[in-house]
Amino acid sequence: MTRNILQERHIDADLLQQLAYNEKMAELGKISASVVHELNAPLSVIISASQMIMREQDVPEFVQEMIARINSEAQRLSQLTRGLLSYSSYDQVTAEADLNLTVNFILDFLTFEASRRAVVVMRQLDHRLPLIQTDSNQLKQILLNIVMNALQAMETAGGTLLVETATAGDDQVRVTISDSGPGIPPEVIERIFDRYFTTKKSGVGTGLGLFVTRELVIQLGGAIRVSSGAEGGTTFIVTLPIAP
Ligand SMILES: Nc1ncnc2c1ncn2[C@@H]1O[C@H](COP(=O)(O)OP(=O)(O)OP(=O)(O)O)[C@@H](O)[C@H]1O
Ligand SMILES: [Mg+2]
Repeated sequence: MTRNILQERHIDADLLQQLAYNEKMAELGKISASVVHELNAPLSVIISASQMIMREQDVPEFVQEMIARINSEAQRLSQLTRGLLSYSSYDQVTAEADLNLTVNFILDFLTFEASRRAVVVMRQLDHRLPLIQTDSNQLKQILLNIVMNALQAMETAGGTLLVETATAGDDQVRVTISDSGPGIPPEVIERIFDRYFTTKKSGVGTGLGLFVTRELVIQLGGAIRVSSGAEGGTTFIVTLPIAP
């Protein structure tokens, strides 16, 4: 009896912790939304001004090249800020989510993170995938956590990331995220979903990513599995029901 009460208390504490974390993320989302919003106006000035200069005839070639560079970097920043805005928007909770669209969104959003680590990103998306009745923001958070971990694992040596979607049976969809990183040793793999478990330096990882990811997947009625071989490489498979 006492044990049951203690166990219940333990669960409550876990839930509270998770709610506090979600709250913090939501707060961060709101702050970054306004910062990003502020960035949009100067960025569009840079983009249109550089386009005007690019159309000029008598500009030396090296200036043309620099202006083209400024223009493409500003375009890239502007894409990133638009991505951030829709990621942090909590009004956009939809009842139906398109898994392929969400995968594309997250991978586009992380293009810069992948290219700066020399990671080649590949997608194999099943275009006959049905829509799933799920909160698309939660789906984004799940994919973001798993993909970010994979990119961080390939920090030093680069590698490849493959994201595949497929139907699983009549009533489920599946997303598989494989990386060619160093893999997860057996003594570590048992603990990766534990709260606060991290092998990263303090300040880099909180160890909450996979804990929250698994909670979210369970909340959506799905399952998450991981496998990693001795020769390296890690695969996460998330299965979600089409309807709850
Ligand atoms: N793709 C992967 N390759 C190698 N190790 C991984 C991979 N994904 C997760 N891990 C291991 O699992 C641990 C826990 O991951 P988790 O996302 O929960 O926390 P974190 O990434 O360390 O911190 P946070 O997500 O809070 O920034 C990581 O520290 C890492 O050791
Ligand atoms: Mg993580």
